[in-house]
Amino acid sequence: MAPTQEAIYAELDADLSWSESDLPERVRTKHVHRLHPYLGKFIPQLVEELLHRHVTAGGRVLDPFAGSGTTLVQSLESGLDSTGVDIASFNCLLMKVKTRHYNLFRLEHDVRDALARFERGDGKATRPTGFVRDWYAPAAVAELLAFRSLIGDYEHADVLRIVLARAARSARRTTHFDLDFPKAPQLEPYWCYKHRRECKPVEHASHFVRRYALDTLARLKEFARVRSKHDAAVLHGDARELELGARFDAVITSPPYPGLIDYHEQHRYAYELLGLDDRRERELGAAAGGTAKPALASYTDGIALVLERSAAALRPGAPLLVVVNDRRELYPEILERAGLRLDGRHRRHVNRRTGRRAGEYFEDVLVAHRA
Ligand SMILES: C[S@@+](CC[C@H](N)C(=O)[O-])C[C@H]1O[C@@H](n2cnc3c(N)ncnc32)[C@H](O)[C@@H]1O
Repeated sequence: MAPTQEAIYAELDADLSWSESDLPERVRTKHVHRLHPYLGKFIPQLVEELLHRHVTAGGRVLDPFAGSGTTLVQSLESGLDSTGVDIASFNCLLMKVKTRHYNLFRLEHDVRDALARFERGDGKATRPTGFVRDWYAPAAVAELLAFRSLIGDYEHADVLRIVLARAARSARRTTHFDLDFPKAPQLEPYWCYKHRRECKPVEHASHFVRRYALDTLARLKEFARVRSKHDAAVLHGDARELELGARFDAVITSPPYPGLIDYHEQHRYAYELLGLDDRRERELGAAAGGTAKPALASYTDGIALVLERSAAALRPGAPLLVVVNDRRELYPEILERAGLRLDGRHRRHVNRRTGRRAGEYFEDVLVAHRA
């Protein structure tokens, strides 16, 4: 039976509307979800619940905008195979590190050996690029580049690359309250709103390297205890063009929003230090593109194409779940152009954010099928 308008404009789904005390930050960032900061991810518990409601055991899930890999990690926890696509190479590196099967003994050996050699001073700093010189204090530059010089010696080089990126993020000369998109290096002491005192820009990176190397190891081990033996495939490329595969049992995704976040730029330090492939001109909805009419039109075209291609990769009757906060009401047209029928929506109240981005809003999970 076709759903009624009331079902489509559903009331709040209380089971998906967690408060800060229901789901404190520690729980939202369990195990590998906190391997590296990433602005714009959805919370693992939402994905867990959607998988539980919409995907049967042994299925395969596709996320064409996989970001930091929340869908992939939760699929592994729920005993499902998955594929994640992203245009940003740092995001793909992060997803691979989170989801790979590890021999924990060899992993621990690599991480501890690299750390010990770094602390003995075995690494060699090379000439920094302009970005690195501008954004880091001289001692931090030398430490980051010395750690980088050791990474290639190890089987688990990608894990060490994530440690380097996280240390580099924390060691930038920024204020403590603007780590997401700092505009210019902070060279002098400043009044810190976060700590309510005068703070100084960071001068060293070595303590971050140590802290994050050990934290990464602990988180990968913790995840190894709860994950299944299923696989997650990571595809780097533009979801408008890449071959996605076929016969998925569900799509779960949260597309970028127009004009909100630059997904490459937020990890600029990682691109600079790791020499990653930068394809920012292919990013859909990038903040740099703005929200004028032509930008919204190209966003709509792009998302509709990705959803249409994703739906074509589903087995007949399988659902496509899209998590959005559609303030601009673009999604009715996007779904129609993608050849999708909206069959329901889970509306959730989001009110658990802390810090400078605190605030509450509503978000929908659109439940669609091929029309
Ligand atoms: C809202 S984020 C997804 C976050 C993800 N749900 C998570 O929990 O980490 C949207 C992602 O879409 C990616 N993206 C943007 N344009 C893309 C494109 N043309 N093809 C594939 N991915 C793209 C961005 O790099 C970003 O990581």
